[in-house]
Amino acid sequence: FGKRIFFFKSIKSTMDYAKKIAERDEPEGTVIIADYQSHGRGRFGRIWKSEPGKNILMSIILRPTIPLEKFSILPFLFSVSVAEAIEKNTNLKITTKWPNDLLINNRKFCGILMEASITADKGDFVILGIGINVNQSEFPKEIQDYATSLYLSTGKVYDRAELTKDILRQIEVDYEKLNKDRDFKSVIERWKKRCTMLGQKITVIQSGKTITGKAIDIDETGFLLLEDETSKIIKLSSGDVTVVK
Ligand code: BTN
Repeated sequence: FGKRIFFFKSIKSTMDYAKKIAERDEPEGTVIIADYQSHGRGRFGRIWKSEPGKNILMSIILRPTIPLEKFSILPFLFSVSVAEAIEKNTNLKITTKWPNDLLINNRKFCGILMEASITADKGDFVILGIGINVNQSEFPKEIQDYATSLYLSTGKVYDRAELTKDILRQIEVDYEKLNKDRDFKSVIERWKKRCTMLGQKITVIQSGKTITGKAIDIDETGFLLLEDETSKIIKLSSGDVTVVK
């Protein structure tokens, strides 16, 4: 990955640029990196804010060979790859939060966004977006209790280029392995080892509805299995989770 890199000092969103060039046959593994995004986005169309010069903001073009119905595993795989690469570079313990957040001491510092384009003529492709708070020292008031950065967690300033290189190396290894061995189970196992939410009482907000129950498991495609008050098992594909204290 990263044989071809497009770098922007400022861009609306690396997701849009990646999509545009992927539609024009840009090969798998091309990476779009930005120093700042004016319209960075997160899941559910939320805004992903960044400070110039402080974060890692990138999108990777993928043309997976795994079956379409398994694409949902990819953000889980990349979460684990990023977590491992960051642990190697820091002494931090990184945990996962369903579906695709990475946390340090329960605060989010990395979000992963997958957007798939399924086209009959041009072939399927996936844009995988990764946003990492690296050297950011301040956050907007609304999120300052929930967000963190590597700098705030360790007091150290990190070389973003070095970190990016290590992350790309790790995700390339993991992604190629998955395309070959298709061991979806072990991806979820690795992800679950880092997850602190399983077995706990949680609430999930999905399409404006709040569901409360016990987080039982994450299945092979990344669905969350929740046991509600009537002991019924509910399968969720996405949502916002809060652990009930
Ligand atoms: C989330 O947690 O909601 C996902 C956040 C993903 C943010 C990254 S930053 C690089 C790429 N470009 C974007 O506009 N979003 C993703």
